[in-house]
Amino acid sequence: MKRVVLVLLAAVLVAAGCCKSSDNTIRTTVPARPAGQQDALGMTAEPIETVRIGVVGLGMRGSDAVERLSLVPGAVVTALCDLLPGRVDASAADLEKMGKPAATGLYSGEPESWRGLCEQGDVDLVYICTDWLNHYPIAMYAMECGKHVAIEVPAALDMDEIWGLVNQCEKTRRHCMMLENCVYDFFEMTTLEMARRGLFGEVIHVEGSYLHNLDPYWDEYWNNWRLDYNSKYRGDVYPTHGIGPVCQVLGIHRGDRMTTLVAMDTRSFNGAKIASERAGEPVTDFANGDETTTMIRTEKGKTLLIEHDVMTPRPYSRMYQVVGTEGYAAKYPIRQYCFRAGEKREKTISGEALEALQAEYRNTAVTPELERLAKEVGGHGGMDYIMDYRLVYCLRHGLPLDMDVYDLAEWCCVAPLSRLSLENGSMPVEVPDFTRGAWDRVQGFSYALAEE
Ligand SMILES: NC(=O)c1ccc[n+]([C@@H]2O[C@H](COP(=O)([O-])OP(=O)(O)OC[C@H]3O[C@@H](n4cnc5c(N)ncnc54)[C@H](O)[C@@H]3O)[C@@H](O)[C@H]2O)c1
Repeated sequence: MKRVVLVLLAAVLVAAGCCKSSDNTIRTTVPARPAGQQDALGMTAEPIETVRIGVVGLGMRGSDAVERLSLVPGAVVTALCDLLPGRVDASAADLEKMGKPAATGLYSGEPESWRGLCEQGDVDLVYICTDWLNHYPIAMYAMECGKHVAIEVPAALDMDEIWGLVNQCEKTRRHCMMLENCVYDFFEMTTLEMARRGLFGEVIHVEGSYLHNLDPYWDEYWNNWRLDYNSKYRGDVYPTHGIGPVCQVLGIHRGDRMTTLVAMDTRSFNGAKIASERAGEPVTDFANGDETTTMIRTEKGKTLLIEHDVMTPRPYSRMYQVVGTEGYAAKYPIRQYCFRAGEKREKTISGEALEALQAEYRNTAVTPELERLAKEVGGHGGMDYIMDYRLVYCLRHGLPLDMDVYDLAEWCCVAPLSRLSLENGSMPVEVPDFTRGAWDRVQGFSYALAEE
């Protein structure tokens, strides 16, 4: 019997492109870098005076993106694509209402209408806001067509897709950035600056999460794509909002790297119930647990705790906790900092004192003018606008982008690797070095700024 179980486990692991080693860690295949191909760390491209953007996927997220991008200096939306023609018409009408130039390319009606947008001459950047399953084929084709790509979260769903994007970016030398907006929230950007200047001592542990009751949204997704995906797959399927900001604090692939991951989940309680109600019949095989917790260790002996819950009435939280040898920062459930205060208990800083401290450590990448504009335009309180602004700014000045393809890979891999851990009794899983050997060439995260 035991032998049968072992043979079955081996078969599952081989099917997943991985194997179990003698130290009880599951390792996935790391494809060799093709000959002649270089890594893309600090990669730059030719400056683009006016960044011409094609947006694919004009649902809840994409239609807002069209409006935001139209308000970024030096950006113009030149092409629109959605499977549904009505959504293309609606975004074209939004551009007209805003007094912006009409998009010259409108694409819809076929599952691969986006090919036309990727081939359009006056498109420099393909900005992808479709459901998750469509991100990868569109991004791969866009880079093949010589375009830079920005992909909504999560950009890639499994290890093949992740390595595919890494290789395509390295080969074509086109930028491939994931649109992880949460690294641009004001508290996170300021705290990153504080960490960089050593206020927390050495940061040794971080926490991030996506706790968001999606009850109000299940009806809104095109073709029920999101619930369907959750029903098919275990694991933290939406890790990037939680892990992105804290990886920047730890300097992941900028002096440290994630090495091992272990995951645990509850069974599906509400997920199966919601799916059953929507299907009108019992759904008994809903895969995604209501709560999924992932723990990760780094090469330098630090830890990350990442949580996912879109099924319970737990209050919205991205957790964002930074624990250092000398200090602590937390955004949720309440914003506060704590520091050592002589021999006494730690000193907590909140309220007005917190605002004053944040003003002192303001992140230089966000000027007061940009902050004002971002809050006016909005998009999750302004962070979406800062993301778009920074993306366009870096492209215009030929600078490395804030987030590279390795960030995309590291933040997305939590989904397939947590699934692998869960499907194998919470076994440890190795997190590959997506830079293939260059993870400590750059020391610490920084924003590229042009010399004015
Ligand atoms: N960063 C954030 O804060 C944030 C917030 C919400 C959503 N998102 C992400 O944005 C993406 C879109 O989410 P949404 O909420 O807008 O979903 P949605 O269902 O509202 O929109 C998806 C759109 O994709 C279109 N589409 C589907 N197949 C297509 C194809 N083959 N070609 C062209 N268009 C196609 C659909 O018609 C629909 O308009 C997802 O990746 C999601 O995770 C990110």
